[in-house]
Amino acid sequence: MTPAATALASEAHVWFISLREDVRARGAAACRAAARAALDRVVATYAPEAHVVHRAGRRPEVRGAPLHVSLAHTSALAVAAITRAVEIGVDVEPVRAAPPRAVLAQLLTDRETAAVSALQPSARGRAFTRAWVRKEAVLKAAGVGLSLDPRWFEVGIDRPPKKPVTLPGGQVATVVDLAVVGHEAAVAFVGAAAPIVRVRSDSTLTRTGVTPLPGALAVR
Ligand SMILES: CC(C)(COP(=O)(O)OP(=O)(O)OC[C@H]1O[C@@H](n2cnc3c(N)ncnc32)[C@H](O)[C@@H]1OP(=O)(O)O)[C@@H](O)C(=O)NCCC(=O)NCCS
Repeated sequence: MTPAATALASEAHVWFISLREDVRARGAAACRAAARAALDRVVATYAPEAHVVHRAGRRPEVRGAPLHVSLAHTSALAVAAITRAVEIGVDVEPVRAAPPRAVLAQLLTDRETAAVSALQPSARGRAFTRAWVRKEAVLKAAGVGLSLDPRWFEVGIDRPPKKPVTLPGGQVATVVDLAVVGHEAAVAFVGAAAPIVRVRSDSTLTRTGVTPLPGALAVR
């Protein structure tokens, strides 16, 4: 592993990567392939000897180095998260209008549904998206994906997120919100504490069909 990987004992690095226009034009499969290639390249910057195994519906696994990773992608950007100490999950979604209350109730807890519905209509989309990315990040950190009903645990909509999140069975996870223009994003860790979260980007990723995302990126 490289010296950069040493920091991952106490830190998590989150790489935001915008998918190139020509990749986006080729559709969802091309975006997924570019996102996976971006994660591979991120891992290689820390551990050139390692490789990532990607399987549909499963968390990506690093073979050859003790690293935990997570990946999310939209039609425009990918987010790759990496750390050493704990299981990690990441998610990003563009902010859209919130669905009707009946649909919210299929996705959120009763309390979260009530909290989103109590907001001004213009604020509901962002609040719903925030809750949703937190849930997906937690589900990925736990490695269960949507096989666990997202109504069975509460992440809330207030900032900062409630800590820790308790899953059915007693497992706990900690959520950190991330800021990216026009989106909501979150990273989650199994356990009651989060490592230090740092946002990264690197021009070498352009070789994988992606470019670093310009503009302000931050940890909330
Ligand atoms: C995991 C899940 C929350 C992903 O959400 P999404 O909004 O569809 O997609 P995202 O871009 O946020 O994340 C996709 C990535 O999550 C990761 N992922 C998938 N399942 C995962 C799991 N169980 N645990 C952790 N990470 C997982 C993969 O890296 C995936 O990347 P890929 O598309 O290149 O394979 C959700 O789709 C799910 O539970 N899927 C399981 C069912 C499934 O995918 N079945 C397909 C079998 S062919």
